[in-house]
Amino acid sequence: MNLQGKKYLVTGGAGFIGSELCRQLQAAGAAVHIVDNLANGKRENVADILTPTCQLHTTDIRDLDQMKALLDGCDGLFHLACLGVRHSIHSPMENHDVNATATLNLLRLAHEGGVPRFVYVSSSEVYGTAQSVPQPEAHPTYPMTVYGSAKLAGECYTRAFHRTYGYATVVIRPFNSYGPRSHHEGDSGEVIPKFLLRTLAGKPMVIFGDGSQTRDFTFVSDTARGILEAGLADTTIGETVNIGSGFEITIQALAEEVREVTGRTDAEIIHEEDRPGDVLRLYADTTKAQGLIGFAPRVSLREGLSQLLAWYQSQGHSAEELLQNEIVKNWEVKA
Ligand SMILES: NC(=O)c1ccc[n+]([C@@H]2O[C@H](COP(=O)([O-])OP(=O)(O)OC[C@H]3O[C@@H](n4cnc5c(N)ncnc54)[C@H](O)[C@@H]3O)[C@@H](O)[C@H]2O)c1
Repeated sequence: MNLQGKKYLVTGGAGFIGSELCRQLQAAGAAVHIVDNLANGKRENVADILTPTCQLHTTDIRDLDQMKALLDGCDGLFHLACLGVRHSIHSPMENHDVNATATLNLLRLAHEGGVPRFVYVSSSEVYGTAQSVPQPEAHPTYPMTVYGSAKLAGECYTRAFHRTYGYATVVIRPFNSYGPRSHHEGDSGEVIPKFLLRTLAGKPMVIFGDGSQTRDFTFVSDTARGILEAGLADTTIGETVNIGSGFEITIQALAEEVREVTGRTDAEIIHEEDRPGDVLRLYADTTKAQGLIGFAPRVSLREGLSQLLAWYQSQGHSAEELLQNEIVKNWEVKA
């Protein structure tokens, strides 16, 4: 993809997926405005790509005056800024404010400001537990959490701007992603980084529930490429598109994969009570992404786990050091 001469604004661009998307935009020749208030993102996630044409603005997306100014002259907006699923359990109002209300405000600003394309990065959490698998985009949406509900509201507003005003919007539904810069800490901590680091540190992997819940894990370079290609294609305007691996695995089997990849075949796996609002089954049908943009994932789960392991080992911190800011039951954090 050649994006020379184009300028994109990426909200949440100092976060896990956003920082990979900014790398791919920059590699394609685009100028990038990264907007992130660093609530969960980190300057170090993008420090190596900052240049005069790739700038980090530590702005809150709810600051509409600043957002209006930053959107001026942009060729498109990739909207990824959000507060996460476990945050929504302890802080539902703030979660709605950032994930839903701010999305509507950004749609309005971008449309009024003449930004030609609005790409909303939603989540497979809008589906709730799968009623049938694999899940195409037409699968019913019954989110389990305020996060999933707020992301669904953001999607609905994005589609409404296309249907009501003819605005060129795209909704993308990534399934669970993992890879370098993924979160193990605080209420952002995700299962794969936590399993890997805990195993490396000789601590047990903790499964909430019986481990039969499933996910469709996608390596972050595949997720970001899907967002970029689906976000900018002509075929996707007004569409909602899944981006996933099309491979379903139980959390129990994931823990066993982590044992294999780390070589700690006797690593302990323990079970604790279910997480409230946990989705029990997610498995992407990616037929639509294949048809519209020729999307296919390139990194298998085994390869991706090995790459993440190598990345941790290259960071100059031990697993024990990294785990200092891990919270095991991370939905119980107080706001
Ligand atoms: N990680 C996944 O597995 C996954 C799966 C499906 C969908 N998604 C979606 O992808 C997007 C990125 O997710 P991620 O995993 O990279 O999360 P992340 O937390 O790493 O990134 C979100 C970023 O938004 C920033 N942010 C939060 N509130 C903000 C505000 N008010 N103003 C400005 N910035 C703010 C955070 O600091 C963070 O850097 C989100 O929209 C999420 O819903 C993620």
